[in-house]
Amino acid sequence: MTDAEIRAEFAHHDRSVARVNNGSFGCCPASVLASRARWQRLFLSQPDAFYYDSLQPGLARSRAAVAALVGAGDASEISLVDNATTAAAIVMQHVAWSFAEGAFERGDAVLMLLYTYSSVKKSIHAYVARAGAHVVEVPLPFPVASPAAIVASFRAALALAKSGGRRRVRLAVIDHITSMPSVVVPVKELVAICREEGVDKVFVDAAHAIGQVRVDVRDVGADFYASNLHKWLFCPSAVAFLHIRKGDPAAAQMHHPVVSSAYGNGLPMESAWIGVRDYSAQLVVPDAVDFVARFEGGVDGVSRRNHDKVVEMGVMLAEAWGTFLGSPPEMCGSMAMVGLPGCFGIDSDDDATRLRTMLRKDYKVEVPIFHNSRTQQVATTDANGDQVTGYVRISHQVYNVREEYEVLRDAVNKLVLDGFSCTQLRPSPPSQNQKMLAH
Ligand SMILES: Cc1ncc(COP(=O)(O)O)c(C=O)c1O
Repeated sequence: MTDAEIRAEFAHHDRSVARVNNGSFGCCPASVLASRARWQRLFLSQPDAFYYDSLQPGLARSRAAVAALVGAGDASEISLVDNATTAAAIVMQHVAWSFAEGAFERGDAVLMLLYTYSSVKKSIHAYVARAGAHVVEVPLPFPVASPAAIVASFRAALALAKSGGRRRVRLAVIDHITSMPSVVVPVKELVAICREEGVDKVFVDAAHAIGQVRVDVRDVGADFYASNLHKWLFCPSAVAFLHIRKGDPAAAQMHHPVVSSAYGNGLPMESAWIGVRDYSAQLVVPDAVDFVARFEGGVDGVSRRNHDKVVEMGVMLAEAWGTFLGSPPEMCGSMAMVGLPGCFGIDSDDDATRLRTMLRKDYKVEVPIFHNSRTQQVATTDANGDQVTGYVRISHQVYNVREEYEVLRDAVNKLVLDGFSCTQLRPSPPSQNQKMLAH
């Protein structure tokens, strides 16, 4: 693809903003959006014919395209769902039923990472803890020096969860790439540890994985593996896949939380009909796969170049700010964490949100900010000796250009020169008069 073709495919992006945050919402090129519009028109032109003739064959093609991309046995191992949040709900509902129906006992453990995504943590609590599970969190170091540091932490937490063999661990939830802070997790190794240690089920939440790192679901070896297709694979919102191995006895017991007339036909078919709605995001998966194939090296080529670029941009920013990357390059996919100058005094998640909002509104940069509340095991001071407590999470996707990272670099440098600190963004406490008026 030439630069001009890429610019044309993403001409609908607001060019006034330095958008270095592909990670949150992904992106969808014009050619895939055009295909989506064709599917939507086909439906509206004759809904009954669409329902009887086109919908299910179209969804079957999408499942086959995903199966080929992720090394699944065949399309019957793939369910298409709206997003990773839905995939997590399917798994958690299944595990909750195992508690409710007595296959698992109250007090059996469920393991998740400290940096498991907030919605997934809530899903674990809403379904599984409520059904009787004891939830154990794996404390992860950040900044992180090596995959071995994560493996060591995971082993220690698993031993704690097993409580000397007195407790069964029924489920481990492992992120392939954590969201915030973003780190590529040695997922294959952690799944193997779970197998050795007798963990019943492993769910890999790989919301960010496909398009950022090579995905081979058989090689990872989890029971359940889910990835969004709308983050890094150029699909429009909202579509994700959930993989379950053929022949896994759990497959027949897994159900979509939205029950329809397809209930009991297997998860791929249940997910393919959850009532009347717009299925076009799921129908354009083959177009997104064709789009990515237009790049040299296909999806692997795209992710390799994004990785190289995001590391290059991360190093450029860290050098300009006197800081460092939050992980070694091999633990970055197409996203990287870069320390912000300690003088910003980022002391809370609210500070991080307010700073992000200011960068969006006043500097036209879109970038998520992470507040690191942990006491760190490794030195995390910047070149001026100030403690680094905040990080930007930068992304690189095919549409990004160096100038966008320079806008971010210059905005932060200007704030440092201006003597900015997050205290300036905090709401001032109410005065005595305001307090009296409130009563
Ligand atoms: C690790 C992880 N899991 C789950 C999700 C939820 O994805 P979605 O909002 O598309 O369901 C995200 C979103 O960023 C994520 O990073």
